[in-house]
Amino acid sequence: TERTYIMVKPDGVQRGLVGEIMARFEKRGYKLIALKMRTADEALLKKHYCDLVEKPFFPSLLSFMTSGPVVSMVWEGLDAVKQGRQMLGETNPLASKPGSIRGDFCIDMGKNICHGSDSVESAENEIALWFTPEEVLKYDQTRAAHIYE
Ligand code: GTP
Ligand code: MG
Repeated sequence: TERTYIMVKPDGVQRGLVGEIMARFEKRGYKLIALKMRTADEALLKKHYCDLVEKPFFPSLLSFMTSGPVVSMVWEGLDAVKQGRQMLGETNPLASKPGSIRGDFCIDMGKNICHGSDSVESAENEIALWFTPEEVLKYDQTRAAHIYE
């Protein structure tokens, strides 16, 4: 089954939205298989955002993302990558629908509180970048029989 990398950015941590964001994935039925809090350094973020390093906004993105702790997690379940992106909303919060995390809790693209992998391939790369293999757990979700047919 599919896995996605979801991260609460420093603004989301500062604003006390960690529980709210996690609760949405939990309630939807996704299984939490990895969780960690840390302040990321520039080397890690350059790898994470390797496709954005040439963008004019990259320096400000780097200083923002290293400004404080982030909460990293891996959620597993049916269609996790695409559904995770939909639950987060659009990159620009102003284009995000109410009911999505960004549509409900933020308004500025540079302070959009959360990250979600944009493809299955980038999810696997991001999980390997932010977690060691031992930190990603395997266990049975006993409620699965009530979530999946
Ligand atoms: P992530 O889930 O954070 O990866 O966002 P995304 O996949 O929706 O967008 P993308 O990967 O293209 O950009 C990563 C992050 O860089 C975004 O979440 C924004 O915080 C920031 N960003 C992207 N485009 C812009 C921009 O044009 N201006 C500014 N200031 N920030 C941007
Ligand atoms: Mg992205």
